[in-house]
Amino acid sequence: MTDISHDRLLIIDFGSQVTQLIARRLRELNVYCEIHPFNKVDEAFLNAFSPKAVILSGGPSSVTTEGSPRAPEALFAMGVPLLGICYGQQVMMHQLGGKVESGHDTAEFGRAYVSPGSKKLNILDGWFVNGNEQVWMSHGDHVSKIAKGFQVYGTSPNAPYAIIADLQRDFYAVQFHPEVHHTPNGAKLYENFVRLAGFTGDWTMGAYREQAITAIKDQVGNQQVICGLSGGVDSSVAAVLLHEAIGDQLTCVFVDHGLLRMDEADEVVKMFRDHYNMKLIHADERELFLGELDGQSDPETKRKIIGRLFIDVFDKYAKPIGAKFLAQGTLYPDVIESVSFSGGPSVTIKSHHNVGGLPEKMDMALVEPLRELFKDEVRALGVELGLPASFVGRHPFPGPGLAIRCPGEITREKLEILRKADAVYIDQIRKHNLYDEIWQAFVAILPVRTVGVMGDGRTYDFACALRAVTSVDGMTADYYPFTHEFLGETATRIINEVEGINRVTYDITSKPPGTIEWE
Ligand code: XMP
Repeated sequence: MTDISHDRLLIIDFGSQVTQLIARRLRELNVYCEIHPFNKVDEAFLNAFSPKAVILSGGPSSVTTEGSPRAPEALFAMGVPLLGICYGQQVMMHQLGGKVESGHDTAEFGRAYVSPGSKKLNILDGWFVNGNEQVWMSHGDHVSKIAKGFQVYGTSPNAPYAIIADLQRDFYAVQFHPEVHHTPNGAKLYENFVRLAGFTGDWTMGAYREQAITAIKDQVGNQQVICGLSGGVDSSVAAVLLHEAIGDQLTCVFVDHGLLRMDEADEVVKMFRDHYNMKLIHADERELFLGELDGQSDPETKRKIIGRLFIDVFDKYAKPIGAKFLAQGTLYPDVIESVSFSGGPSVTIKSHHNVGGLPEKMDMALVEPLRELFKDEVRALGVELGLPASFVGRHPFPGPGLAIRCPGEITREKLEILRKADAVYIDQIRKHNLYDEIWQAFVAILPVRTVGVMGDGRTYDFACALRAVTSVDGMTADYYPFTHEFLGETATRIINEVEGINRVTYDITSKPPGTIEWE
């Protein structure tokens, strides 16, 4: 709870897999919202947070089970608009005097169609344009009696109380999930809800930039700050924001471990030192990393060596600066406290350390200016801060770099071949205007030589694999369906232009069961 200058919406999380999507939909409407687990939200919390409206999320529990999650009673007396989703609807009905029952016969999972009731409802403006509206249901329990003051505004074959509302109190509740893709018109419902709650859409990246700059200045005072810059979107945006706030109090450390892509180090130095005029330490530690990786082929060993050296190197360059703060590009999905039902209601905090272990080792406090933002908001902030669109739209690149795209032993020869092949592949993708459609694309060089024929001669060179995936968050992924023409043209270019490769394959593994990277 750091921001009090915007209208704030509270999402009480009852443990649904898709609670984050509610926040996404609201942020898209320029509404500032935060997700907090139900067992943290009590009367004191509500008073301190002072939300303009509250959404109660879905969740896996049954309100008919003893000890299942509840909303604080104080919520219903606050006088702010409420919207209950699925379990959120059931908990509202249960606590306000309605009835919820369990029963397989009325369970509904998947696509359903809601029909309008006879009366119009403000949050349904622009809905039911085609008579029925497709929605996504996922409930075992169902409301069997609505609480006093509520009326029905929409029904589905298995959910007679699909949409209900108490207009006196501005309490709304739906059985389905408007936040998911399979409720195609769902965003409209959220839009109507936040408008009637009086949100003006004041959560913009311009406003965020101003607020974040003030917060950074307040936090660090006149102390020095260091920031590990990888050239990736998150650390780059964090660095530019910090630089705008504190100028030369910021030093960025860019570690070149010899596992970067073609021209990457030059691009980072040009952008941050030359263009932004930042204090940037370009730590050329290629010999150190490649020396220690020599002869190693086990993926976990490679990762461990790189992680350990990274901390050592960072420490070496950062210590003399005497910084009291370490800046990190931690994002909101990394810090949302999630509801865990494994051992009864408890909270699990996912923590994320780009340079894990350093704050303790160097006795520094963290500055995390992006911790309220989702990935696409970070990109929007990057554009707001003047970073070129081509830079903020870059595909993710892993910390261990090309090491995990080089199965088997890492040699300088293989890295050089890999860099060239990757550059040709990405060039092809850009030329065909496919870069922004793809979540991540890269080449892996395989630890195998194959026989080929070029001109009149025999070749005995490396095989490589092209990888391109679509994904939302990197957790699951599918291979990108390139055309045969594209694949053929790219293979020809790589074999012609990259000495050392004579065979190209395309990796069509999804995740799961594969992973995106090869190691
Ligand atoms: P996998 O291969 O696990 O990768 O499917 C999912 C996403 O995470 C990236 N990745 C990493 N990023 N440090 C990082 O900063 C790492 O050690 C690391 N390993 C994988 C990967 O590129 C993909 O975007």
